[in-house]
Parts: sequence; C-alpha cells; structure tokens
Amino acid sequence: MKKFAVIGCPVEHSLSPVMHNAGYKAAGINAEYERLLIQPESLGQAVKELKSGGYSGWNVTFPFKEQIIPYLDKVTEQAQRIGAVNTVKVDAGSLIGYNTDGEGFVKSVENNGFNLRGKKVIILGAGGAAKAIAFSLISRKAEIVILNRTPSKAEKLAEILTSAGGKASWGSFQPGGWLSEAELLIQTTSIGLRDEEFPFSLRGINPAALVIDLIYNPPVTKFLREAKRYGCKVMNGLEMLLYQGVLAWEIWFDQEAPVAAMKNALLEKTVTNWS
Ligand code: ATR
Repeated sequence: MKKFAVIGCPVEHSLSPVMHNAGYKAAGINAEYERLLIQPESLGQAVKELKSGGYSGWNVTFPFKEQIIPYLDKVTEQAQRIGAVNTVKVDAGSLIGYNTDGEGFVKSVENNGFNLRGKKVIILGAGGAAKAIAFSLISRKAEIVILNRTPSKAEKLAEILTSAGGKASWGSFQPGGWLSEAELLIQTTSIGLRDEEFPFSLRGINPAALVIDLIYNPPVTKFLREAKRYGCKVMNGLEMLLYQGVLAWEIWFDQEAPVAAMKNALLEKTVTNWS
C-alpha cells in the first residue's frame, strides 16, 4: 500500500485526507492518506522519518511551507520563485518539492468559465497565499493590484512580480477607484475565519466582478456575503483546495485525478448556506 500524508501544526482541520482517500477509492488505488501533526522544532526529524517510513509523498501546510525547503533535494522553479512548497514527491529516494497552490487557484477560476488573460485582478493581502496565486496569475497575463494592511509588503510583492515580467502595482488596504474597475477580487487574508466583519465596505464594486474569498470554513464569510449582495458572482476557497489536491495527485501518480469524487468528498464535509 502506498502512503501519503499532510504535515502541519495544527493539522486536525485539514480536509486533504477526506479528499485524497475518496480519490483513491474512486480510482481503485491501494493507498492511504493521513494527517500528521508535527511539532515545529521537529520538522527535520519528521522529514527523515517520512522518507524512511516509506511515504511516497506528502502535502505541507502551515507553518512548514517555507521551512521544508532546506530538507528537500530539489525544488521546482515555480516553488522556488514562490519560496514555498505544498507538495513533496519521493522520487527514487529523492525528495522533490512543488507548489500547486497558485495553479490550483487558477484552475478553479478557469473551470468556472473565467478567462484570466488581460483581466484586472485585485488581491487583498500580500502573504504566502497571495504570492503563490499572483505568480500563476502573471503567467496568464492578468494585471494585478495588491492591497495590504502593511503597504510595504504589497510593494515588495509587486516589485517581485514586475521583475518576473508581470504587470503588478500596489496600494493600501482601503476602498478606492479599484472597486469599480476590478474584474476579479481575491480575499487572501485571515479576516473572516472567526466570522469577523471585513474592515471596509465593498460599496461601488463592479457587479460583473468575480469575488473569491480563500476562506472555506466558514463557507460564507461576511465579505463574500456583501459581495453577493452587490450582485457579484462569488466563490470560496474550496475549489482552490480541490485543485491544489488534484494537481498534487497528478504529480504523485502521473495520471488524471478523479476530480468529481474528490470534490464530492469535500462538499460532504462543508455546508454552504447563502441565506
Ligand atoms: P497566508 O499564507 O495565509 O497568506 P500570511 O503569509 O501570514 O498567511 O499572510 C497573512 C496576510 O493576511 C497578510 O497580508 C496580512 O497583512 P499584513 O501583511 O499587514 O500583516 C493579512 N492580514 C492578517 N490579518 C489581518 C487583519 N486583521 N487586517 C488586515 N490584514 C490582515
């Protein structure tokens, strides 16, 4: 039996085991995917044990996405640029690091019929998730504006994206003319995880914009509810979770993932109530 896992701290909330195990069942693959709680100070030891324990690969979540890089033998160019790894494959004894977060996001958007080319995209937040997504967006020739509470971080990210050949600018975390111009608005901060109010109103938002909140638990944040009230199409981060997992699957097995089975497993675990 092949073994896979997600490593993190905390990790109890992760839906990856549900999604991947449902996929193995649907595809008739003899494999098992577990959750492994790793203490931050024992990451190096944990990586050794995963390798010697016969794991074929694993996902990496908070707080290890950056920290794991020194323990790997090779990291893809994409993951290197982002500076974070969310997927590891054990390939003939060698540990290879990938990042499927950004491409997972892009797939989730494109699968909903949204063509990113030349689109004006506003990203709220400038942390790890924003960075991974932004790199995939510039490869689709989207035009990005990054708004962050700490503007210097938005500036730094915009500079990195520009030097990688992308179109990116930055600003502060507040409403402005961007609301009426946005074609895609992505909320990547943790505001709303505990049902908090979003700090500013979306009044004036382009009603034709697609608005995405990466938070999927709760499935509908106050931010997303407001966007829906203004007539925008809305989506939470569950499909990004799905497609980063689908892409990890394809890296591990070199075959197409059973997307429908994986999606259904996730939907069974989350209840979306828009009322
Ligand atoms: P992730 O990997 O999920 O992106 P991260 O790298 O820690 O997490 O980044 C968190 C992002 O959420 C940052 O953009 C952070 O803004 P700052 O750079 O100003 O810290 C943003 N964030 C978190 N809590 C916030 C809050 N209460 N208000 C505004 N932004 C917040």
